Amino acid sequence: MAENKSKLVYVDAVRLSRSRKERISELQAECFNRVSRKEIAECFIAKEFGWILACQGASIIGQIELFSRKVEFEERKILLGGLGGTCVTVSARNKGLGSRLVRKGIEIMRQKKCDVACLNANIRDYSSGGLYHSMGFRLMKRPISFTDVHGKTRYDTGEMFVPICSSEIYELVMNSPATFHIGRGYW
Ligand SMILES: CC(C)(COP(=O)(O)OP(=O)(O)OC[C@H]1O[C@@H](n2cnc3c(N)ncnc32)[C@H](O)[C@@H]1OP(=O)(O)O)[C@@H](O)C(=O)NCCC(=O)NCCS
Repeated sequence: MAENKSKLVYVDAVRLSRSRKERISELQAECFNRVSRKEIAECFIAKEFGWILACQGASIIGQIELFSRKVEFEERKILLGGLGGTCVTVSARNKGLGSRLVRKGIEIMRQKKCDVACLNANIRDYSSGGLYHSMGFRLMKRPISFTDVHGKTRYDTGEMFVPICSSEIYELVMNSPATFHIGRGYW
């Protein structure tokens, strides 16, 4: 079924109102109850630069958080984009809204001139990446690493990448045998 009623709005992180922040927290609690508070506090510490909100009238029914950071990999400087916390309220799912949010996220990553972008997918339930695969993301076959709030290096699988401004850097990141370190904090 087509989803055509909600409007996607980009909001810079510094301009996010308190009421929108509260509504986002409610939506995240609804959609990510499988992620523990401890894990959120220790790992999901990256600071987003903006949000895409799916608004239906006054209510927020979906969202995605946008990140970017400079990383060095194989002696190359890379502008890495990150998409995190993609979610849609249960009653609005399976109508294309999640895909619209991701597509808009990619568009903003392109405006920011990110070389590549990545996100973490639930590969237990969607082994090839589900909707992200259809948006052009591909699963990295090796674990990525990041640093948690304690400065400890952690590893995770299920990271998917998409080329944004540089297919050359995308190929390097995907095909190198070296671990790709995304920096401090996950998204
Ligand atoms: C993932 C999510 C945002 C999709 O939103 P949506 O509006 O239903 O997305 P769309 O209608 O554009 O696409 C639906 C497709 O997404 C797939 N999908 C559902 N959950 C998914 C997930 N976690 N990862 C990848 N694909 C997923 C569905 O299988 C469906 O595919 P189909 O049409 O072939 O059956 C929504 O299911 C959600 O909020 N889930 C809970 C939070 C979550 O797990 N977020 C993803 C974090 S990686």
